[in-house]
Amino acid sequence: METPRRVEHQMTDKGYVPVYTTTVIEQPWDTYTAVDHDTWATLFKRQREILVGRAAKEFVTNQERLHMTADAIPRFSDLNRVLKPATGWELIAVEGLLPELTFFEHLANRRFPVTWWIRKPEQLDYLAEPDMFHDLFGHVPLLLNPVFADYMQAYGAGGVKAAAIGPEALQNLTRLYWYTVEFGLIRTDEGLRIYGAGIVSSKGESIYSLESPAPNRIGFDLERVMQTRYRIDTYQKTYFVIDSYEELMEATRPDFTPIYARLHDAPSHAAGDVLATDTVWQRGSGEGWLNDGDV
Ligand code: PHE
Ligand code: FE
Repeated sequence: METPRRVEHQMTDKGYVPVYTTTVIEQPWDTYTAVDHDTWATLFKRQREILVGRAAKEFVTNQERLHMTADAIPRFSDLNRVLKPATGWELIAVEGLLPELTFFEHLANRRFPVTWWIRKPEQLDYLAEPDMFHDLFGHVPLLLNPVFADYMQAYGAGGVKAAAIGPEALQNLTRLYWYTVEFGLIRTDEGLRIYGAGIVSSKGESIYSLESPAPNRIGFDLERVMQTRYRIDTYQKTYFVIDSYEELMEATRPDFTPIYARLHDAPSHAAGDVLATDTVWQRGSGEGWLNDGDV
């Protein structure tokens, strides 16, 4: 039986997007079908294989610490038994994307909303909205990293503040989330690695983000990132590279209020722009880029 999920649509700068009930629910673990568990297993094994030598090492080690395996869809309560004592974070089950302010408030209180349902077998490669595989496999491992755990909470608190300042501030902050939490790359002694959840949960983008000559790979710079538009329907044109989670935490520690004021009248950069002031690790060839559609 299909559970009706979508409750309403909300007009945003991305057009109409579905917004779900804000209620925190119990993960309906018993309702997962054999097909659901199989989808989890297929995605889990496939990504673990692709991510060897590509993802930051925390992904495998922390998935192991959380006892996340291909065998079955994890119970959030089992993950919480490891996560909560470690960094104070707790997973809560939700229907899907939450209204922005609700999402920020959860993060600010170290609650990470996880979509309870998993994609269908015909959606292994692409899905327009986050599902459980994206949330659990992509986001949860780094919540065990103490520095990243603090960053996520600070981001939530910053979001509550930005929402009170206005939509432009929120847009600046959303770009930061996009280019770090979702699509970030990190330099390690072994080479460039993925830490963004949007990449780690996608087979195609895991390879593309590191190996394709098409995208730019540019050193992380807070204000530069906050001014940069992004893609929601294609792979990114630009990936921003951090040196460490500590660097990210330090760069975002100052009060953003004066930054929002400064950026208010500054132009935004297109997703594929390379600036004279950028630290360029790779200038993308731009192959395959669409000319419109940056948001
Ligand atoms: N320091 C930011 C502020 O004052 C909050 C923040 C922290 C935002 C970490 C993003 C990430 O708004
Ligand atoms: Fe996500």
